[in-house]
Amino acid sequence: MSEIKVAPSVLAADPLCLAEEIATVKDAGADLLHLDIMDGHFVPNLTFGVEAARRMKQLGLPLDIHLMVDCLDWAISAFSGSAEYLTVHAEATPHLHRTLQYIKSLGLKSGVALNPSTPPDFLPFVADQVDLVLIMTVNPGWGGQAFIPEMVDKVSWVRRFIVERGLSAEIEVDGGVTADNARILREAGASILVAGSYVFKAAHRQAAISRLR
Ligand code: DX5
Ligand code: ZN
Repeated sequence: MSEIKVAPSVLAADPLCLAEEIATVKDAGADLLHLDIMDGHFVPNLTFGVEAARRMKQLGLPLDIHLMVDCLDWAISAFSGSAEYLTVHAEATPHLHRTLQYIKSLGLKSGVALNPSTPPDFLPFVADQVDLVLIMTVNPGWGGQAFIPEMVDKVSWVRRFIVERGLSAEIEVDGGVTADNARILREAGASILVAGSYVFKAAHRQAAISRLR
C-alpha cells in the first residue's frame, strides 16, 4: 500500500489564527486539510461556512470536507467548489446512492462516513459510487474525544471488502487518532488518518505528522 496520508482537522486549530495554523500544517507535510462542517442539527455543534471553506482552499492544501449536516443537497452544492473529497454521513440520507452519484456528477471524489454504531454492510450496494469510506472512531460533534477501539474491527472489515472487490477506495479514520493508535489503524487498512488535537496541540507539528505515518 502507498504511504499513509495525514489530514489535520482544522477544528482543533486556533480559530483566531486560522491562516497561520493551516500554513504550519501544510509546511509540516500534511497531505489534505480535513474540514468539519457541522449544522447544529445532525450534530449539536456549529463550525465553518461556505466562505470560510472557499478561503481555506486558497491556502493550497486539498480540502477533505466532512459534512455533518442534514440538508445534504444544499451543502453538497454549496461546498462543491472548495472540496477535493466531499463526504456525507450514511445516516443523514435515505437516498445514499443518489447522494453519492450527485457528488460524483460534480466531478468530486465522493465519501461516505459511518458513525460508530453504523454497520458497514450496506457498502456493497453503493461501492460503485464511493471513493472514500470514512470510519468515525468517536461520535461526531467535537474534537478531542477518546478513540473507540472497537472501530479497528470495522476498519479491517472495510479493508477486506475493498481488497476482495478489487476496489481502490480510500479508508479514512476520524476521531481520537494519535501516535498511540496510528499503527494499529494502518495495519487494519486505513489509508488516510485524520488528526485534529494530536497535530494542532503538538509542540512540533512536523514530528507529530511523521509519527502518524
Ligand atoms: C469530529 C470530527 C473530527 C474531529 C477530530 O466530529 O469529525 O474530524 O475534528 O478531532 P480529534 O482528532 O481531536 O479527535
Ligand atoms: Zn471529521
